[in-house]
Order: sequence, then structure tokens, then C-alpha cells
Amino acid sequence: MLRTAAKVNLTLEVLGKRADGYHEIATVMQAVDLSDRITLDDADDLELRSTSVEVPTDGRNLALRAAAALREAAGLGQGVRIGLDKRIPVAAGLGGGSADAAAVLLGLNRLWSLRWPLERLDDVAASLGSDVPFFLRGGAALATGRGEKVEPLQGRSLALVLVNPRFPASTAEMYGRLTPAMYSDGTATRALARSLRRGPARVAASLYNGMEAVASGVFPQIPRMRAALLAAGALGALMSGSGPTVFGVARSHEQARQIRARVARGSWECWAVRTLTGPAVRLVANGARRG
Ligand code: C5P
Repeated sequence: MLRTAAKVNLTLEVLGKRADGYHEIATVMQAVDLSDRITLDDADDLELRSTSVEVPTDGRNLALRAAAALREAAGLGQGVRIGLDKRIPVAAGLGGGSADAAAVLLGLNRLWSLRWPLERLDDVAASLGSDVPFFLRGGAALATGRGEKVEPLQGRSLALVLVNPRFPASTAEMYGRLTPAMYSDGTATRALARSLRRGPARVAASLYNGMEAVASGVFPQIPRMRAALLAAGALGALMSGSGPTVFGVARSHEQARQIRARVARGSWECWAVRTLTGPAVRLVANGARRG
């Protein structure tokens, strides 16, 4: 079984609009230990079974599209049955769909004995979505271009609290609402990349998301979740990606659990998590470890 981790964006800067309709961005992506579980079994066709009713099981599903794209790129004919135990909330700004797609690429690279290096999987990954190349590696990374150009960053493990309001946000819609006044120049991202080794207080002081204002206008829950995290003792708080999940930075995992207990309420789902300094996708024995 594969475990595939979610991400948060410790910064997200939109630098400008591109001719291809995407936006040029600079972001620090960070894997966190909230993970989906994926199994891959030989089959004649491409099939997917999921524990979540929110996940499409047809050609819109990014994990299935990953299998189809790799099969095509490798010129193979076989199928695979994908089992998806969904724990990362869907359309949450946590990269769950991209994480699943990366796990399928890495898992099938083994199952189909392709032995492709990561650099070769990168092209297939980037064709599936801007976040997918990050998840082939994990840890912390500086991502540029439309998000698909990934450089690893060294950092320390951090304790975070994730808060999700149990409704989805559309990435395309949030990007579509941006105006040039919300663009920035990458300075915040470079500063955060330097802060990453210096501990939680420095990271908290450098958080920045250029999409948070626009998303907060659409979803007033976002500033409420951020305020609740800060009131509960978080050193800093920020929306992840295009939202709506908000995360807080804690001093320690113990404090993250205290903050989680204070912020958890009826309609909000909360997790105390640790950031991962290693791979986002890991092969584990069935039934081993929770998280
Ligand atoms: O790459 P991905 O499929 O995840 O992007 C989803 C949508 O988000 C794109 O269709 C585009 O509208 C928007 N997007 C963008 N600039 C980026 C990444 C995504 O405009 N760098």
C-alpha cells in the first residue's frame, strides 16, 4: 500500500498572467503527514474504487488519468485497479488529487517495472496538473513556473494545525478572480525559503498568500478560521493554495494538539500534523501506522 501526503503552501505569490492562460507563480510547498492510502493491483482495464463519494471514479479522476497517461507514454497495454482511501479533503487547497496522481505514477513505475527516473516521470506529472511534480519528491520545495518547476529546500520539521470548513473551493475560479493589484514579485517566497531552517517563529513571520484576500471575499469562513487559530495560540496562520483550508504554525506538536482541540467545532474539521522532510509518497505495509 502507498501513503501519499497532502501539502500546504507556506507562501503563494502570483507573479503575473501567462499567454497560455495559467499564472506564473512562486511558492514554497511543504508536505504534511495527512495522507491518502492507495493500492494498485493488476487488472485488464483501468479502474478506480474510492471510499469517498466526493471523488469522481470516471475519466475526470486525476489518479485514473495518471495511470492512463503513464500507460500511453510507456506504450503499454495493461490496466490497473486503483483503490483510493481518501483522507485528504477534496478541493481543499491541500493538493490531494495531485498527491494521488503522483502516488499512481510512482507505484506504477514499480508495478510495471518501468524504472523511469524521476526526471522522466516529471513530464507526465506536469501534464496532469501543476502540483503533481512536487509530490513525486515531497519534503519542502520552491516551485516556480505554473508550479511545476520544483527545487528541493532543506528545512526542519514543523508542527501545524489544519482547519477545513467542509466545503470545496475551485482553483480555476480563485485564479480567475485575481487582479493585477494582487500580484507580487517573489520576495516573500525567497524570504520564507531562507526562514525554513530557522524554526517555527521565523516561518510564521514570513507566511504569505496572494490569493487569500480574494478567497476571503468569497468565503468569509477563511478569515474566521485564521482568527480562531491565532486566538488559540498559533504563531501565524495562512490559507493554503487556493483554499479554503487554513493552517496555523505551532511551537511544538503538543501545542498543535492543544490548538486543534480549541479550534475544532461543529462545522470545521481539524488536524494536528507534522511537516515531512522526506518523500510525500511512501510504500508501507498494510495496516501499519495511522495518520
Ligand atoms: O494545473 P492545474 O490543473 O492544477 O490548474 C487548475 C487551474 O488553475 C488551471 O486550469 C488554471 O485555471 C489555474 N491555474 C493558474 N495558474 C497556475 C496554476 C493553476 O491559472 N499556476
